[in-house]
Amino acid sequence: MWLICCSALLWSLRMGTMPRPKLLLLLVLCVLGTDAVDRSNFKTCDQSSFCKRHRNLQPGMSPYRALMDTVQMTPEGLSMKVLNTRNKVELQLLLAAVNVNTARLTIDEVNPIRERFRPTDALSKEPTIAEASILAQDDNSVTLGFLQNKAVVTSDPFRIDFLVDDELAISVNSRGLMKFEQYRKRKNNDEPAEGQENEENQDGEKQEGEGEEEKPVEEEDEPGMWEETFKSHHDSKPHGPSSVGLDFSFPGVEHVYGIPEHADSFALKTTTSGEPYRLYNLDVFEYELHNPMALYGSIPVMIAHNAQRTVGLFWMNAAETWIDISSNTAGKTVFGKMLDYVKGGSEMPQTDTHWISESGVIDVFFMLGPRPAEVFSQYTDLTGKPAMPPLFAIAYHQSRWNYNDEEDVKNVDAGFDDNDIPYDVLWLDIEHTDGKRYMTWDKHKFPHPIDMQDRVAAKGRKMVVIVDPHIKRDDNYHIHKDAKDHGYYVKSKDGGDFEGWCWPGSSSYLDFINPTVRSWWASRFELGTFEGSTKNLFIWNDMNEPSVFNGPEVTMHKDAVHYGGWEHRDVHNIFGMYLPKSTYLGLMQRSNNKERPFVLSRAFFAGYHRYGAVWTGDNTAEWGHLQISIPMLLSLSVTGQSFVGADVGGFFKNPDPELLLRWYQAAAYQPFFRAHAHLDTRRREPWLFDKETMNGIREAIRARYALLPYWYTLFYQAATHGMPIMRPLWVEFPEDTSTFATEDEYMIGNALLAHPVTDAGASGVQVHLPGEGQVWYDVDTYKKYNGGSTEYIPVTLTKIPVFQRGGTIVPRKERIRRASSLTNRDPYTFTIALDKQGTATGELFVDDGHSFKYRDNNRFLHKNYLFENNKLISRTMDMNGEFDTKSWVERIIIIGLPKAPTTVTIDGIRDIMIDKKNLEFRYTPDTQTLVIRKPAVNVAQNWSITLQ
Ligand code: GLC
Repeated sequence: MWLICCSALLWSLRMGTMPRPKLLLLLVLCVLGTDAVDRSNFKTCDQSSFCKRHRNLQPGMSPYRALMDTVQMTPEGLSMKVLNTRNKVELQLLLAAVNVNTARLTIDEVNPIRERFRPTDALSKEPTIAEASILAQDDNSVTLGFLQNKAVVTSDPFRIDFLVDDELAISVNSRGLMKFEQYRKRKNNDEPAEGQENEENQDGEKQEGEGEEEKPVEEEDEPGMWEETFKSHHDSKPHGPSSVGLDFSFPGVEHVYGIPEHADSFALKTTTSGEPYRLYNLDVFEYELHNPMALYGSIPVMIAHNAQRTVGLFWMNAAETWIDISSNTAGKTVFGKMLDYVKGGSEMPQTDTHWISESGVIDVFFMLGPRPAEVFSQYTDLTGKPAMPPLFAIAYHQSRWNYNDEEDVKNVDAGFDDNDIPYDVLWLDIEHTDGKRYMTWDKHKFPHPIDMQDRVAAKGRKMVVIVDPHIKRDDNYHIHKDAKDHGYYVKSKDGGDFEGWCWPGSSSYLDFINPTVRSWWASRFELGTFEGSTKNLFIWNDMNEPSVFNGPEVTMHKDAVHYGGWEHRDVHNIFGMYLPKSTYLGLMQRSNNKERPFVLSRAFFAGYHRYGAVWTGDNTAEWGHLQISIPMLLSLSVTGQSFVGADVGGFFKNPDPELLLRWYQAAAYQPFFRAHAHLDTRRREPWLFDKETMNGIREAIRARYALLPYWYTLFYQAATHGMPIMRPLWVEFPEDTSTFATEDEYMIGNALLAHPVTDAGASGVQVHLPGEGQVWYDVDTYKKYNGGSTEYIPVTLTKIPVFQRGGTIVPRKERIRRASSLTNRDPYTFTIALDKQGTATGELFVDDGHSFKYRDNNRFLHKNYLFENNKLISRTMDMNGEFDTKSWVERIIIIGLPKAPTTVTIDGIRDIMIDKKNLEFRYTPDTQTLVIRKPAVNVAQNWSITLQ
């Protein structure tokens, strides 16, 4: 709040536009300052009338009935009407099997007086209708069958049950909380209602004598239905109430995950005694931890997991959404649960959820798994596979608000080289612009932007600049002039251009809902149009929730009007995603669709992963924020957004050296790795700290660079199969119940387990190594541990526990250079960690690191490595790919080999014949490690190495 107040204050002082009393109030707030989120700026469920109406419903009172005489199997799926038996409004239901093992349920009005918004741009394409048939039907139910699944629709009380292999997996409306507020004309107080109206009375109870033959039950309008005020903000609600809500239960499930973005635990908490989780993209100043309050982005996707099954649910709705979670086992101790079991009195665990959105239709996808990898693949079959980033984007990024001028950029860039620390990207925040006019340069501080970028690029590096979506209302600013003249801005309820405050002062907001605005925006990135830009410049989109400093809850008024007549309330959660989407398209066009774009966005919605990365916004330099970064990133990772990171060091405040170092060590093992800091913080380039801290930071960054071939391969797997890169342990060990609530450690791919140190002064951490029968190796010492155990691992300031799982092969490039682009020809080291059977497998993906040639021209290598029976075989995994590389294999390390071989020989088995030759090796009995030197074979070749 402080920041917002102060900028508003500064702006008003400069412009002389604000009345005195308001100015004084701001001054007081600004001087007092606050140290945490001002909760009163954000709504509770009770202050959002639709949420309150839904939350007040009592279970079991559902007025809905599916009309069995309307059941029809159509090419689009099973169709039927659902009647609200109280107000006699009919709804249209469609239930379809789509893609593979996925079902889609839509419920909409039959004859609406106003169309409802569907955020279908979350989907990469219209899902394919899959084969399904009616298996059974009687007076009260109809069963749809598809693959090994069944969906049983029961008429009265209306519910749907999804069965996977004849076991109940998800129930819909089993608690009878469905509520669909149809659009209606506003009643004139003295006249009877027009059109169909009225739902249950305020208590949600049936009226006496109510029944099918009864007349529609009249209901009085409730406060907040036709207008609502929050603080000083009035929401005119010209179309009245239009909310939708439905409950979903997961029998047999104790743990549900996802629905980012919240600064909360990974395994979601029950909300019975507090607020529901809220999804409403908001710019929250100094957000609080362990809180269901809404943050910058929304992905309305929940994953339910137990040892037998994983399923997912995607509530495709872009309006403000609240989610309640309850569970019949919440609060029971493990002992309590065991006692239930012993006494035979245990109920099956169950998690119940209730989803409430302010407008839109009910449009829900059920991803029926049954394994975690299948749910991720099903979700990304719907919403598209994540973008494959350029290699530089997964290396280390150096940012702060702000690098002040060209001299500063030069010095920071040189500082990395002087201190032998690699980095790939230098970032410029809002101060680089001419008065916060994005896509312009401050002529005094950045007079030669092209030379500056060229100098950075000459070292193999890139730059990123921020481009925000609020446009300064200045007729001399070409973007504003064009946008105003063409009518590209969002409109206020009165029809004029919507105006709000943001960084530049009085601003208007481009209406990205309009496809013409999106293409116009994309064309702004042409090199000739964006003056001072080069092909080595990439883009950061911020404040796109959208942030409106003087708007309700620091965002846009819900009655603002978008292209197509949609109200802002209908589109709010998807609106922010159109900015980075359009930027992505712009960067594509800039290179004639040849180069992979890099875009970072703060706001997002389901499907944004097709375009770029997100970060967790304005965190704080506190240990709690370092800790919460793990569950926050995991929640994003399991809902498709695998390219994620948190500001290293914390955005607000000044981290002490230990916290900064621990943050680098953690983030080196997280997908998006960027240091960033607030304008008011002290400078924190690594060399400004003591030797030990700087060396530690250097080691952390170098460890990341060495592992880039592994990270890159994981990004390729994400881009092809939708597998998250940062994985909760249960993704790899779905049956190990002890991992279900773990959020202080995680897997990177299937091979590495990281347990960042997130406490001050730690001299050791308890690490859970999952999987009975597995073995794990410390990546620093090669010490072996058994899976299914919790180990105390001592740490020093320069160590965080990272383990390689037995049975995996990890590629590295160990020659560290100043930027990732300089390592193209460098040799590889493969670390082979053997499992108990003495076997291991791994993969490597290689291409040019920046273009679409891997996709469009098959210019790539995808290799598979298998070690078994003392033989390592390198094979081509995807025969479609071909890629010339100079990289060769420099070293092979085999860990967990019980005894030394007498000879090690290499054979070429295809293409180029290599003379069978003996290789040098060294065996260390203490750690059972064999290091094979210089196989000296090109990584593109197929070959085998035999130990005898
Ligand atoms: C927002 C961003 C932050 C950025 C600042 C100035 O607070 O979250 O990262 O530095 O705006 O652009």
